[in-house]
Amino acid sequence: MSRKPIIAGNWKMNKTAKEAREFIGAVANAIPSNDLVDTVIGSPAIFLEGMKKGVKDTDLKVAAQNCYFEDFGAFTGENSPATIAALGVDYVIIGHSERRDYFGETDEDINKKAHAIFKNGMTPIICCGESLETYEAGKAEEFVGAQVSAALKGLSAEQVASSVLAYEPIWAIGTGKSATQDDAQKMCKAVRDVVAADFGQDVADKVRVQYGGSVKPDNIADYMACPDVDGALVGGASLEVDSFLALLDFVN
Ligand code: 13P
Repeated sequence: MSRKPIIAGNWKMNKTAKEAREFIGAVANAIPSNDLVDTVIGSPAIFLEGMKKGVKDTDLKVAAQNCYFEDFGAFTGENSPATIAALGVDYVIIGHSERRDYFGETDEDINKKAHAIFKNGMTPIICCGESLETYEAGKAEEFVGAQVSAALKGLSAEQVASSVLAYEPIWAIGTGKSATQDDAQKMCKAVRDVVAADFGQDVADKVRVQYGGSVKPDNIADYMACPDVDGALVGGASLEVDSFLALLDFVN
């Protein structure tokens, strides 16, 4: 089963609008064709509109880093999935461990967000991943499996097949201590196996699973060589033009 790779940068809470514009100006026409790879930048919500203008007529796609699960209403400070979709945004990253740990997001919230994102015609990039404590206790597969099952609850087989799942062990995020190739493969396969158990092997064969956590230009090819790793979700190395473009070199 061949799945198109998907490389997504997650800028987190970085860059001004001017810096974002300059970055997009430098990379939008320098990425490989989306016949070969889907290339995505997850930007702060405040400049999603400018990002969409900047990538117009190029193969670069744009993601939001979060959204709320209601379309409109009295939810001060939240970003509506309907509003994000109306800007033409392609993907929304949900369930990042920073959202879970610092902002108290639950599996139930993430599931509601996944439904809201599909309702609005976008694609979720759904993050999962265990803490160092859980990893060291040998419970990573069980923990991550439960996160994935909960996030996908009630979605249709078609929706799940088109979703992107991002396995990001918390201990590897921003630490420079990336997972081994074997661990990344084992865990991305475990994520796919949960999809197979819940939605069938056909769906599992289609869903794309990314690895994230200290992915850099010099280790991305090792992950992309794994049969169950279909892409990467990249923080730090997505912030600079040169390193972002170098992440895409594995395509050639
Ligand atoms: P780093 O690539 O900086 O480790 O961040 C990973 C991440 O959290 C992407 O969502």
